[in-house]
Amino acid sequence: MRILVTGGAGYIGSHTCLELLACGHELVVVDNFCNGHEEALGRVERLSGKPVTVVEGDIQDRALMTSLLREKGSEAVIHFAGLKAVGDSVSDPLSFYTNNVFGTISLLEAMRDCDVRKIVFSSSATVYGDPRWLPITENHPLRAKNPYGTTKLVIEDLLRDLYRSDSSWAIAMLRYFNPVGAHESGRIGEDPKGVPTNLMPFIAQVANGRRDELRIWGGDYPTRDGTGERDYNHVVDLAEGHVAAIEALEAGGMSEVNLGTGTAYTVLDMVRAFEEVSGRPIPYKIVERRPGDAASCFADPSLAEQRFGWRARRGLLEMCRDHWRWEQQNPDGYRDRSA
Ligand code: NAD
Ligand code: UFG
Repeated sequence: MRILVTGGAGYIGSHTCLELLACGHELVVVDNFCNGHEEALGRVERLSGKPVTVVEGDIQDRALMTSLLREKGSEAVIHFAGLKAVGDSVSDPLSFYTNNVFGTISLLEAMRDCDVRKIVFSSSATVYGDPRWLPITENHPLRAKNPYGTTKLVIEDLLRDLYRSDSSWAIAMLRYFNPVGAHESGRIGEDPKGVPTNLMPFIAQVANGRRDELRIWGGDYPTRDGTGERDYNHVVDLAEGHVAAIEALEAGGMSEVNLGTGTAYTVLDMVRAFEEVSGRPIPYKIVERRPGDAASCFADPSLAEQRFGWRARRGLLEMCRDHWRWEQQNPDGYRDRSA
């Protein structure tokens, strides 16, 4: 398939591009590089031995989206582009709604105008709000806890309405749980700006001596060891989930599907696993809970297997080992051009 990938220079997008190329798909990536790196796509090309057409541009630019879809003969879109820092969404909701919601509307209008009606959308487990039951199934009630989550919910609603209005659209909304890890080559991975807010990149920087200690947000949750539990997913498993989802769109239909492993690990499980693979101590201190955090959140991933034949295959040690390799080889992320 010829696929337009929005946000393909980002963390999940770059890994997905590599898997798509390996399966013989042809790619055009559009990214405004507000959080992505052109170098990531250069490395994807070198790893795959295949070319990627990269266009610097914004999904809000409908004329650009239209011309890309038309001129490149795209048959489907995988839509990663979006802002994702929850804290920024609270302080600057306008930017989030404009970028994520308006950007998606402009992309969908361009798709309609070009008669390209297959789309895979990056949603998030955040749309479930505080879990009412575990594991989370796709029929769990939806509720946003912050403006970032609201943008994901609004886009999901829009896509549901679009499909109801015209069932010639084929839509997959993928609700990711916690993506971690990196490609096994150590050449592409997550390159967070500033101090990481997510657990795994923070642990990796502590292991590498760039940060003194991990602060564990809360040790009194009703979990095995009192620390928060999450469903961590190897990013390459997620990437393979996108390949399976886009190929399944050939048959049409609309789906809302969890991409998770179904297994929950606590923060202390993550610390111990990372210590094991890195051979480095991870000093930590247990502090107050982080406001808004759930004690536990993990997926029922069975629908993804039914719909797309996809299941996560990589375990916790592999997630940590690959994340650690990326961190060691690229301590300055993509700014370290020697890697
Ligand atoms: P990322 O920030 O690494 O990638 C997003 C990419 O989109 C970046 O390359 C950025 O430059 C680009 N972008 C943003 N706005 C754009 C615009 N208006 N026009 C063109 N390009 C634009 O993030 P990621 O972790 O790879 O996440 C990809 C998608 O998955 C996002 O939509 C995110 O909300 C969603 N998601 C991520 C997680 C996670 O924990 N990483 C969890 C659930 C959902
Ligand atoms: N944690 C710490 N210390 C840290 C960072 C995190 O103890 O420095 C703990 C958190 O309290 C939580 C767990 O590690 O228990 C995971 O936290 P993350 O911030 O890595 O991930 P979240 O589950 O909070 O959220 C992530 C994304 C959201 C997304 C959600 C579900 O940041 O945007 O996964 O996909 F919605």
